[in-house]
Amino acid sequence: MRVIETREDLYTDSGDARRGVVMTMGALHEGHADLIRAARDRDEHVTVTIFVNPMQFGPQEDLARYPRTLQADLELCERLGVNTVYVPQVADVYPRTPVVTVDPGPLGTELEGSVRPTHFRGVLTVVCKLLRITSPDDAYFGEKDYQQLTLIRAMVADLDLGVTVVGVPTSREADGLARSSRNVYLTDEQRVAAGAMPRALQVGAAMGSPAAIESAARCELAGLEIDYVAVRDPDLGPPVLGTGRLLIAARLGTTRLLDNCAVHLEAL
Ligand code: PAF
Repeated sequence: MRVIETREDLYTDSGDARRGVVMTMGALHEGHADLIRAARDRDEHVTVTIFVNPMQFGPQEDLARYPRTLQADLELCERLGVNTVYVPQVADVYPRTPVVTVDPGPLGTELEGSVRPTHFRGVLTVVCKLLRITSPDDAYFGEKDYQQLTLIRAMVADLDLGVTVVGVPTSREADGLARSSRNVYLTDEQRVAAGAMPRALQVGAAMGSPAAIESAARCELAGLEIDYVAVRDPDLGPPVLGTGRLLIAARLGTTRLLDNCAVHLEAL
C-alpha cells in the first residue's frame, strides 16, 4: 500500500486498472470499511483519501477537534487491501483559496443546509476537486449522509463529471445507531439516549403518510433536540406516493446525529 501526500504521486503504477475512490475525513470505522470493501469488489485499484476539509466546516463547528486517528486508519486500509492512501495537506488540495466553488443549488439550503448554510458548498467543491485529482471510474459514498449523496449524484450528472457514484447502505451498531466518526463525542449516557435515532426511523417507517411518519418519529426523539424530521421523495423533492425517504437530525449536547431510511407512502 502506498501512502502519498501530493497529487503528483498518484497512479505512478496503476496502469489502466479500473479505479475506485473512497473519500473520507479519517477516523475510519466499520462504515468506511464497508465503502472500501464495495470498492474492492468492483475496482482493481482502490484509493482512499483522508482529508479533513476545512471548507465544509462552519466557523462554530468542530474542525479543530475533529477526531484524527491516522495510524489506525492506515492499518485498516492496509488490512482491507487498499492500493493507495492519499493524505494531503490543505495546500495540496487548495493551492489557493478557491474563487470559483460548486453551488449546491436550492437543496443545499434545506435540511442539513438550513442548519449548516455553507456546508454543502464546501463538500461539493472538495468532492469535485478530489474526483479531478484522483480521476476514478467509481466513487463510493455512504447512504448515511443521504443529502450529501444526493447532491454529489446531482453534481456528477449536471457537470458531466463522468464517474459512477455508488451509494453504500448505512453501517449500524448493535442497537441500530448509524456508525459515524462523531459518535466518539457521545458520553455513555448520551450513547444510550442516541438509540432513539434508529427507533425513530423504525416507528416512522411503519406509518404510511408524511404527517403520521413525522409525528411518530418526533415522539420517539422526545429526549433529543430535534433539528428536523422530514419526509421527501428519493431525490429529496416533495414526497410522492410510493417510495420516499425519512430524514432525521437531532442533537445530544453538542453532538449532532443524522440518519435516514426508505419509507413507503400510501397517502400524502
Ligand atoms: O462524508 C465525508 O466524510 C465528507 O463529507 C467527504 C465526502 C469526504 C468530503 O470531505
